[in-house]
Amino acid sequence: MSHHSRFSPRSLLFGGDYSPEQWPESVWREDVALMREAGVNIVTLGVFSWGLLEVDDDRWDWDWFDRIIDLLSNEGISIDLATPTASPPIWLHREHPEILPVDRRGIRYHQGGRLQWCPSHPVWQRYARRIAERLGERYGAHPSVTMWHVSNELGGGNRRCYCAASTSAFRVWLENRYEHIDAVNSAWGTAFWGHRYRRFDDVTAPLDSESAQNPSLLLDFDRFSSDALLGQFRLERDALRDAGVTTPITTNLMVSPSGSVADYASWIDDLDVVAIDHYTIAEDPRRERELAFVASRTRGLDPSRPWLVMEHSTSAVNWQRRNAPKSPGEMIRNSLQHIAHGSDGALFFQWRASASGAEQFHSAMVPHAGSDSRQWREVVELGRRLAQLDELTGSLGERSEVAILVDDVSLWAWHAGQKPLHDHPIHEDARQWFDVLSARGFGPDVVPPTSDLTGRSLIVVPSLYLVTDATVAAIEAVVRSGSTVVIGPLSGIVDADSRIRVGGYPGAFRDMLGVVGEELVPLLDGEQLLLSSGAQMADISARLRTTAADVVEVHRGGDLDGLPAITRRAVGAGAAWHISGLVGAGFDDLVDRITGDAGLVRRLPSSDDIEAVRRVSADGSWLFLINHGTTDAVVPADGTDLISGESADGRFALPAGDVAVIRERVEKRATRPV
Ligand code: GAL
Repeated sequence: MSHHSRFSPRSLLFGGDYSPEQWPESVWREDVALMREAGVNIVTLGVFSWGLLEVDDDRWDWDWFDRIIDLLSNEGISIDLATPTASPPIWLHREHPEILPVDRRGIRYHQGGRLQWCPSHPVWQRYARRIAERLGERYGAHPSVTMWHVSNELGGGNRRCYCAASTSAFRVWLENRYEHIDAVNSAWGTAFWGHRYRRFDDVTAPLDSESAQNPSLLLDFDRFSSDALLGQFRLERDALRDAGVTTPITTNLMVSPSGSVADYASWIDDLDVVAIDHYTIAEDPRRERELAFVASRTRGLDPSRPWLVMEHSTSAVNWQRRNAPKSPGEMIRNSLQHIAHGSDGALFFQWRASASGAEQFHSAMVPHAGSDSRQWREVVELGRRLAQLDELTGSLGERSEVAILVDDVSLWAWHAGQKPLHDHPIHEDARQWFDVLSARGFGPDVVPPTSDLTGRSLIVVPSLYLVTDATVAAIEAVVRSGSTVVIGPLSGIVDADSRIRVGGYPGAFRDMLGVVGEELVPLLDGEQLLLSSGAQMADISARLRTTAADVVEVHRGGDLDGLPAITRRAVGAGAAWHISGLVGAGFDDLVDRITGDAGLVRRLPSSDDIEAVRRVSADGSWLFLINHGTTDAVVPADGTDLISGESADGRFALPAGDVAVIRERVEKRATRPV
């Protein structure tokens, strides 16, 4: 992996997106005074400032930007400088409406909004490169500009563009991937409906039709779109480097449990630090678990480096149905959750709540009410706590012996075209495993299928619809050498081209599992299948027969009566489990049986309400204990809480809603597997 520049802050980063252009300069002075009061050490500047920096084509107004950079710099606040390409100026759209993206109906979007550009359009690329270059030339050597932030949430508004420029770029992309059009015809199975292509020029972006589309074409268009966005990142990064920038360059990813807009696993080598934005959903009563899943997944993208939560919210989020504030203490827990899972800081959208514009009802570090507010006091309290945690900067999340495989491309493949069940959120299978394994103290890692599986005692493959041959081989190899694997329902159904692996489901794993699935059996609304243990399945099961596996549980009643539902097969030194459907009631017991079979030993003092996560380094280990519940708890721990200064001698009292970060006793750490 070649990193131009190492991200290694001296202390945990604390701050947020800062938009001084929305306020008179008198407010800037109050801003920096408040930043100092809270211990803010970095702000992201310029994300949406293009139209105020390049006020007309190649006419520049740098004065105000110089002034704010000087002010921040004089106060010792670092700057994460953004290229402002997420929001092109109005004049650019007036002069070049051809850069606006086109939707799948072939309709061009209009000026305004943001991310209103096609990454494949040469005119867009010219302007984007120029603004990045100008910024790099002007501020690249500034000592306070310690990192760079390319654009903002690439794909969050322009995930797929169907314009003529995109179509041309898609053809080039296909030619690079397949070399010959016959290879496309074969990969996409275009014999179906006789959609045979004669040459690459016959292919277009998958514009809408009333009838269904070819799922392999849709999947390749998603892959192309992800690469086009990565191309945008590279174009801007290269412009910055050419202009002399030597500090770390990144962009803020949107890692989503239901499938991200890009295949981030393939972006990682380009990023000097993996940075994400994450927003909890107020209506989700266990939103802290979704946060933990995303944080674990982010860490799993590159476990060898700390990452960074570039944006999260202090409180209410205007784009949600009910724009509810976070409960007192929740922001602090959320920030420390991210840090627990390996973020080297906690940054927010945004510093000061806007008075005008599309996001005027979004929370911020400084709310509309100003600094005499609960929100501000909590921000100051968070800053105080972060300052006590500086010693863990640079440490990493502890590697788990349990891995859950999750893949954006597989999720896209599931969503592309017609499937056995359309309303089933396939990604929830992974979430369910994560929640139970976390609460059991196994601290699972959520990783892409391409990650290193060696040394994992348990590998969970939940609804991993698309798997490549390489992943199949890697899983089989670790199982033979002693790991336990669980293949969930709907896993291994298609190959990398989204072609069914025929001969019985799940085609990719059939031989290893010693089962043949003859039919997928989606259930109707409210229908439940009973298993011999009393557990229940909903949404889907399968008509299975065993060829070499032992039957662990059978269906009871209905069309599948007596047929296998859960199987296990000894494979080499390991074991391969298969679950034919989605288990509802009884799932926790099933997890216990499988983790017992895998010989897993609880590593962390977690429970339903207590999230326990460990960071490790050559200098020590830190145990984060987060009480998400409403009752006080006593948790096993040994060491000193960096936040309260209290010592934990085998037990630590953790009040409801509170967080502790225990620097663990060294003699304990030495005996613990890291
Ligand atoms: C993010 C975005 C920010 C802001 C925020 C509001 O997705 O990057 O600029 O819009 O959402 O929640």
